[in-house]
Amino acid sequence: MCGIVGYIGYREAWPIVIKGLKRLEYRGYDSAGIAIIGDSGEKIYKKAGKVSVLEEFAENQDKSGHIAMGHTRWATHGVPSDRNSHPHTSNNGKLSIIHNGIIENYATLKEELIGRGHEFKSDTDTEVLIHLIEEIQKIEKIDLLEAVRLALNEVSGAYAIVIMDKDNPDRLIVARKGSPMVIGVGKGEYFIASDATPIIEYTKNVIYLNDNEIALITKDDLLVKQLDNVIQTPLVQELELKLEMLEKGGYEHFMLKEIYEQPRSIKDCMRGRIYPQEGKVQLGGIKEFADKLKNIDRIIIVACGTSWHAGLVGEYLIEEYARIPVEVEYASEFRYRNPIITEKDVVIAISQSGETADTMAAIEMAKEKGATIFGICNVAGASIPRLTHAGVYTHAGPEIGVASTKAFTAQVTVLTLMAFYMAQQRGTLTTSKLIELLTELDHIPEKIQIALESDDIIKKVAEKIKDSKNCLFLGRGSGFPVALEGALKLKEISYIHAEGYPAAEMKHGPIALIDEEMPVVFIATQNSSYEKVISNIQEVKARKGIVIAIVTQGDIEVKKMADYCIEIPDADEAFLPLLATIPLQLLSYHIAVMRGCNVDQPRNLAKSVTVE
Ligand code: F6R
Repeated sequence: MCGIVGYIGYREAWPIVIKGLKRLEYRGYDSAGIAIIGDSGEKIYKKAGKVSVLEEFAENQDKSGHIAMGHTRWATHGVPSDRNSHPHTSNNGKLSIIHNGIIENYATLKEELIGRGHEFKSDTDTEVLIHLIEEIQKIEKIDLLEAVRLALNEVSGAYAIVIMDKDNPDRLIVARKGSPMVIGVGKGEYFIASDATPIIEYTKNVIYLNDNEIALITKDDLLVKQLDNVIQTPLVQELELKLEMLEKGGYEHFMLKEIYEQPRSIKDCMRGRIYPQEGKVQLGGIKEFADKLKNIDRIIIVACGTSWHAGLVGEYLIEEYARIPVEVEYASEFRYRNPIITEKDVVIAISQSGETADTMAAIEMAKEKGATIFGICNVAGASIPRLTHAGVYTHAGPEIGVASTKAFTAQVTVLTLMAFYMAQQRGTLTTSKLIELLTELDHIPEKIQIALESDDIIKKVAEKIKDSKNCLFLGRGSGFPVALEGALKLKEISYIHAEGYPAAEMKHGPIALIDEEMPVVFIATQNSSYEKVISNIQEVKARKGIVIAIVTQGDIEVKKMADYCIEIPDADEAFLPLLATIPLQLLSYHIAVMRGCNVDQPRNLAKSVTVE
């Protein structure tokens, strides 16, 4: 959600922090702010709007200093405005804070602090925390690190925070619980960020702060403690990230770049994991649990949004090939029910960011009940891979566009591999069938490349339906989650109301919406439900709906009925979701561009949802 950047060292801090904020802008972009301490004291600049607004605002101001922290906000408490932007300061103005997360008991704390004479300048929960720290320091007469530690023991909720002290401009204090925080280690300097993207151009050595840890950072030293005061030895790890992965590489938007990266990202996802000639899948991350997989009775998949759609594809694949019953749950619902989970269950948590608050809470609950937890994540070192017992990374590379594209197809690829792996362990697929399936899977990146070449017809369709108010997406079998994903993509980046439905459900309600203005996108490829989907297309045509069909190359039947057909290469039904998703991503992209929407940073959204 919010983005955090900090610097302490020998360089000018402003350019590092502002550049870092731009890199992090995909996390939250309704306001931005920076606090910097130089020879003339502390300066705080903050503005509602994008980082560029802040940059312009501070253009002719004093921005010198070797210690600074900056923030991009995704509003939770208080509207996006200058006064609600971070950093926030304490009552006496000496301490300042930036924060990602939510302080849940802020209202009670605020009331108490008001009773003690504190005056608040914003509507945020964050400001309450820095006032509380000042109050504790004043009463207990202790140093700032200790005051922060004690204050954090009093708050409930999630946070990643950075604190600066005007009177001690040689130190930063950072802490985390349930919200990510990375510390880049340089020579005579440290970098702080909510993910590694702002750090990579300065150092590859990073420390991922763990939950309930607090760190005191000077330019030459770092002290890490747990909130219970036990000193920790931080683990320095090397980043695999490369700078060019974070740039648009000639594309107009990150989303477009990421759509076109899919032949490569899927190859990376499969590399070293499939052996088509032997009919073998190897998943090092879960091999320890190979025996357990032979005997499990059930798998529960938990995720949110697009990752939940990938989970629905996973359900189809795992049930079809490994014959294990699968339930797919919204993490946000699952965590607040009292689901029946036993030690025999395997829970698979899917998350691109690895930081989604609801998915993390669902994992924690299932873990407490004794289940084995696997993760499918994209961001290495994120919180979810560290919470799970085992897992498989998607290796899609950084996804910067807020709408998930390559992460989805990589998640589906991992779930396909998992389904085949489980089938291999349980003997539900013969080696010859596995050879056949894996050989085809190996060529899916080339077929995705072909699917990407339908861009011209997709643009024509986009032109036709770009002014629609509504749009339906229909599919059957594993085409149903593809329809859901197509609808989500369209609504989130173009703000057109869109719904995904199982095609057969149309008759039970949505058909009432169909008239000559309603575009209906069908997943109508040649697979086991082809004939049934054709009947559904007829029903839409009979009501004058505009039919757009994703069809198999060379299709004849659907072409007779549909207004527009977009072809994808023929493939086994197992791989339909990987191919049929591609034109839907491009369709929503072009529609959003034609409508003048901000494709990479759609309104109200944020890349990783670290609050529930
Ligand atoms: C949609 C999208 C979101 C995410 C969801 C879960 O394009 O990106 O729906 O899929 O917020 O995020 P992760 O996968 O990071 O847990």
